[in-house]
Amino acid sequence: MAVVLPFDPAAEIDAEPSLEGILTLVRADMERVNALILSRTGSEVTMIPEVAQHLISSGGKRLRPILTLATADLTGYAGDGHIKLAASVEFMHTATLLHDDVVDDSEMRRGKLAARMLWGNEASVLVGDFLLGQAFRMMIEVGNMRALDILSTAAVVIAEGEVAQLAAAKNTATSEDEYLAVIRGKTAELFAAACEVGPVIAGRPKVEQSACRSYGMNLGIAFQLIDDALDYGGSRAKLGKNVGDDFREGKITLPIVLAFRRGNDEERAFWKRCLETGEINEGDLEHAMKLLARHDALADTVDRARHYGAMAKDALGLFADGPAKRALLDVVDFCVARAR
Ligand code: IPE
Ligand code: IPE
Ligand code: MG
Ligand code: MG
Repeated sequence: MAVVLPFDPAAEIDAEPSLEGILTLVRADMERVNALILSRTGSEVTMIPEVAQHLISSGGKRLRPILTLATADLTGYAGDGHIKLAASVEFMHTATLLHDDVVDDSEMRRGKLAARMLWGNEASVLVGDFLLGQAFRMMIEVGNMRALDILSTAAVVIAEGEVAQLAAAKNTATSEDEYLAVIRGKTAELFAAACEVGPVIAGRPKVEQSACRSYGMNLGIAFQLIDDALDYGGSRAKLGKNVGDDFREGKITLPIVLAFRRGNDEERAFWKRCLETGEINEGDLEHAMKLLARHDALADTVDRARHYGAMAKDALGLFADGPAKRALLDVVDFCVARAR
């Protein structure tokens, strides 16, 4: 007997998922966050605002502060603290980008030359430290010890994730579990913290704090899985960063883990030469793409992202329907659909 699934034609012609809904929801708050971000990059040492504003004015989706504002809205927060916490979260993110581009030798960020290409690695690292320091000053101004605990723990876990990734680099024996542990740390933890501090400052019960944290954690995992698929399957114009960076660096992401495990001896020898010894010749990236396609490695990475996206959505199940919840659910679709 055939199983008949309910079919909703309206859902089929749905527009491309976008951040429009959540941007509308947080627009007024986000203007305050952006003003605060700009004002806190100020310093008499002129290189600091130059470097910081180069990156900040290049845009970026501002996804993490948006999540802080939206989860504060979802949980009925009525004060002002979410503005400073959202700015802190974006500063933490900006600092990790400045540091990450040095670690990864990346040349492009947000469609422009990475700060390190213009001011050098030293300036990039030090301005990242400045922004991290400013982030903590703003958290202190908010004065909520629990929020400070969550965000300072996130700073530690992000650094651990980046170092764990460094240790796993060029190691084709990296397992999917090890990869997942790295991305939970380097990426998902900040999403989780960004979402948890909303209900925390709203003084909501622990179950709501945990639900928002879980939403952020699973969304963050999905987000990084898609980012890792896009490093092979995306376009430079859309990404604002170079395609193939991960391959050239020997970064072991899930597409590689899958293709390596599913490949034959000859294919494994190819991955080892490129990723472990760093001996990359012309045509190797194209060959890598062929192997990824042969083993459905990108498609399955996106599938995994869908799974974590579904977990993120279900984590919000206990909240009443409303504009904030709907917008947060749409963010999940946006993040997963980036891969299209
Ligand atoms: C880039 O994050 C770093 C990753 C975790 C992949 P985003 O893609 O959110 O960067 P911006 O802020 O929009 O530039
Ligand atoms: C994100 O990892 C790192 C941070 C969380 C700082 P990636 O190295 O994959 O991010 P991109 O590709 O440089 O944006
Ligand atoms: Mg990087
Ligand atoms: Mg990447």
